[in-house]
Amino acid sequence: MDRYLVTGGRPLHGRVAINGAKNSALKLMAAALLAEGTTTLRSVPRIADVSTMGRVLERLGCAVAFTDGAMEIDVPSNIASEAPYDLVRQMRASIIVLGPLLARTGRARVAMPGGCNIGSRKIDLHLKGLERMGVEVSYDHGYLNARSPGLEGATITLDFPSVGATENLLMAAVLAKGTTVIDNAAREPEIADLAEMLQAMGAHISGAGTPTIEIEGVAGLKPAHHDVVPDRIEAATYLIAGAATCGDVTASGARADHLDLVLAKLADAGCDVDAGSGFVRVALSGRPRAVDFVTLPYPGFPTDLQPQMMVLLSLADGTSIATENVFESRFMFVDELLRMGADIRTEGHHAVIRGRPGLQAAPVRSPDIRAGAALVIAGLVADGVTEIGGVEYIDRGYEDFEGKLSVLGAEIERRDRRAPAGLEA
Ligand code: UD1
Repeated sequence: MDRYLVTGGRPLHGRVAINGAKNSALKLMAAALLAEGTTTLRSVPRIADVSTMGRVLERLGCAVAFTDGAMEIDVPSNIASEAPYDLVRQMRASIIVLGPLLARTGRARVAMPGGCNIGSRKIDLHLKGLERMGVEVSYDHGYLNARSPGLEGATITLDFPSVGATENLLMAAVLAKGTTVIDNAAREPEIADLAEMLQAMGAHISGAGTPTIEIEGVAGLKPAHHDVVPDRIEAATYLIAGAATCGDVTASGARADHLDLVLAKLADAGCDVDAGSGFVRVALSGRPRAVDFVTLPYPGFPTDLQPQMMVLLSLADGTSIATENVFESRFMFVDELLRMGADIRTEGHHAVIRGRPGLQAAPVRSPDIRAGAALVIAGLVADGVTEIGGVEYIDRGYEDFEGKLSVLGAEIERRDRRAPAGLEA
């Protein structure tokens, strides 16, 4: 795997342009399967997960291309129904084709996603909901086979507001017979974005973005043109990086209304926060103040920003408590941060972070997308040159991470996996 060499101690300053959201783009690409013809998506980030989803769609018979900055997905009348293990293994979010495939073809064969570095990532809620809509599920050789003679609308109450389950059920319901109600649905902005695109395709949906979504099935959908919602996690990653380095960063294209609690926590930590139409600016001088935070489904504090926030608070003047409620193993990266001199103790899903005035450079490994970004932030602050391995994880979720950080004044270099550390210029 490639690695980053990050020289710490330079405050980040300036503007960084935010892309469309990874977690929306992947679902919108899957939603394209629901209609024959060419769907166009603008602001799709050029990241590895988008390429993987593109390959999943190609295996299903679609043609996927970037033209004039937009992604065009050409969906044929006959689509295949198998998402193979070699692709699902690379990206568990591939499971999101289940709903659209069932809606379009009445069947789907999707490799079981398996575990990952942030927890077991179960899909029981997706399947329970689909079964209520008349889907039969069986398993063979690590694959899940789903079949339905005709999807029927149903009332489904999710045990937990799972993002993926809400999206799969929403995409199955748009072509089902009758009305589907999803209760205790996820409320993330990416769900509202998906519903907006489905509506542009001709679906009848109300309540997306609230805990109860109602879908009136229609007989067919048409392709659409859609702009992907700005990536709130990408934006906040740069804003937190700016704060951690005692800098001043503006995320242009970011939506402050999707970052309410995050910005409130940054203000509690002593940051100056300013936001307007199409931008959010965060600046900090001196050490942050300690703040407690708890990850929860939206509008709670996003689990995808927990590692970045932990790095900021490891520099705080005081002790903070972080509680992780969404993914069971998401504190695994803390061991890497300890190697850089952070003082963090984890106990179950709580972490006690005793702030220190600084961090020290050390070789570390990125265990997942967001923890990887957090370790880079730690490197930007640390005394010395931090080597961060496993950059391919970061590539999955951040377009040109090193380029955007460099524009903000960071000293960051990417090194090919073959170049020995001793030969670094
Ligand atoms: C999505 C995001 C991920 C984010 C997460 C929570 C994408 C591609 N990924 O993941 O970045 O961190 O939302 O905001 O959009 N669960 C079950 N059974 C299920 C489904 C989920 O027990 O059937 C559990 C999971 O194991 C996890 C929790 O619910 O502990 C949250 O999962 P979910 O909201 O489904 O997240 P994802 O859609 O996988």
